[in-house]
Amino acid sequence: MRNVPGAVSIVTTGVRPGRHGLTLTAGCSLSTDPSSVLVCVNKSAGGHDTIKQSGSFCWNILTADHAELAKKFAGQDGSKGDIRFADGLWRQLTTGAPSLIEAICSFDCRVSGSYDAGSHTIFVGEVVAQTTNLDREPLVYVNGEFTVPKR
Ligand SMILES: Cc1cc2nc3c(=O)[nH]c(=O)nc-3n(C[C@H](O)[C@H](O)[C@H](O)COP(=O)(O)O)c2cc1C
Repeated sequence: MRNVPGAVSIVTTGVRPGRHGLTLTAGCSLSTDPSSVLVCVNKSAGGHDTIKQSGSFCWNILTADHAELAKKFAGQDGSKGDIRFADGLWRQLTTGAPSLIEAICSFDCRVSGSYDAGSHTIFVGEVVAQTTNLDREPLVYVNGEFTVPKR
């Protein structure tokens, strides 16, 4: 799986002081009518049950400047839960899930379906609000490393 190039994102859920977020590459756009995305979240992830209970999440697509933030939200600095949000600038859009202000785009979603997939749950989210910063370079994960695509 680490050889599959993937756009790096952070999926967030919950409200302070019960916010959760995890770094995620298993996400993609799903449909335009209704505007929907999907994210695949490990059942053991701290945010999994909060997505289920709150029925919402925000999918934040990271920029080239976000490698350290991606490592933090992958738990690589030992942090957990709400403390991860001390880094980065966050706001709430419609659902209350944290939206990263400097993300390339943020999709604030209400869960419209969830599907069991072994270790993971596939959450389908209907987009209820979104933001974009189109002048940013994306962050990509491939061969176990964060990288920035060459133009
Ligand atoms: C590049 C990268 C991509 C990841 N993609 C996913 C993913 O698609 N789904 C997932 O559940 N975890 C993914 N993870 C793992 C989670 O980010 C990690 O397990 C995180 O610590 C879970 O949050 P928690 O510590 O609050 O449980 C990925 C990690 C990295 C470094």
